[in-house]
Amino acid sequence: MEVIILEDSHAVATLSAQRISDLINKKPTAVLGLATGSTPIALYQKLISLYQQGTLSFRHVVTFNLDEYIGISPNNPQSYHAFMKRELFDSIDIQPHNSHLPTCERAGETSCQVGAAYEQAIAEAGGIDLQVLGIGSNGHIGFNEPSSSLVSRTRVKTLTQATVNDNNRLFEEGEFQPRLAMTMGIASILDSQQVILLATGAQKARAVCNAIEGPLSAMCPASALQLHKQVTFILDEAAASKLENHHYYRWVRRINESLEKN
Ligand code: F6R
Repeated sequence: MEVIILEDSHAVATLSAQRISDLINKKPTAVLGLATGSTPIALYQKLISLYQQGTLSFRHVVTFNLDEYIGISPNNPQSYHAFMKRELFDSIDIQPHNSHLPTCERAGETSCQVGAAYEQAIAEAGGIDLQVLGIGSNGHIGFNEPSSSLVSRTRVKTLTQATVNDNNRLFEEGEFQPRLAMTMGIASILDSQQVILLATGAQKARAVCNAIEGPLSAMCPASALQLHKQVTFILDEAAASKLENHHYYRWVRRINESLEKN
């Protein structure tokens, strides 16, 4: 695992945008796995700037989002469909038919069928080249809450009270807040060629430490990334503040940077 500790959330967004733009410039038909939430917003702003500067195009890029709420329509501003349009898709040249989010709204199909169809669509696109992840303060990735099976696939999950509380800040008082979501599974995430997990802020420090240095456990779903062959944690100082081995991660980074220069 590569663990990169940067001074602040701005640097986290800059480096992750760089990784994504390098991939797309090498492979214009790249398949990206995308996340919602507060953390990747700065990354999406950087990607929009690169597009506006003319150094990056999403014309042939395909995207699959991790998750979507159940119980609100894709047109609801609180939906992840709406979030992605607002924060990224409406400001870049991605073709609408190339961006995918899981949804349970398909008439006549059970959620199991919808989940299986989502997995199949990812496979038919050639699999995910690079998956962007955030992390919940309880260690969730996507909406794979603690106790999720490490071999899970796209399906409906019930959100924990901790996640509902964390996201409550985004809902008005009295507004309906979903308790269920359709999410890619942990095995779906592990199938991707490359993963970058972004974490910023002290409220993520415990989960980050459990994911990287804790035991592999369904109680910290992000710890399943220990099984992935190409995963990079891109952290700010606050999110990295509970890592015991932080001297080593910084040392590796310095060595890698000096190798890149030579
Ligand atoms: C969202 C997602 C979640 C978030 C996590 C962190 O698509 O998959 O796992 O990444 O809840 O959310 P923020 O970034 O809002 O702290």
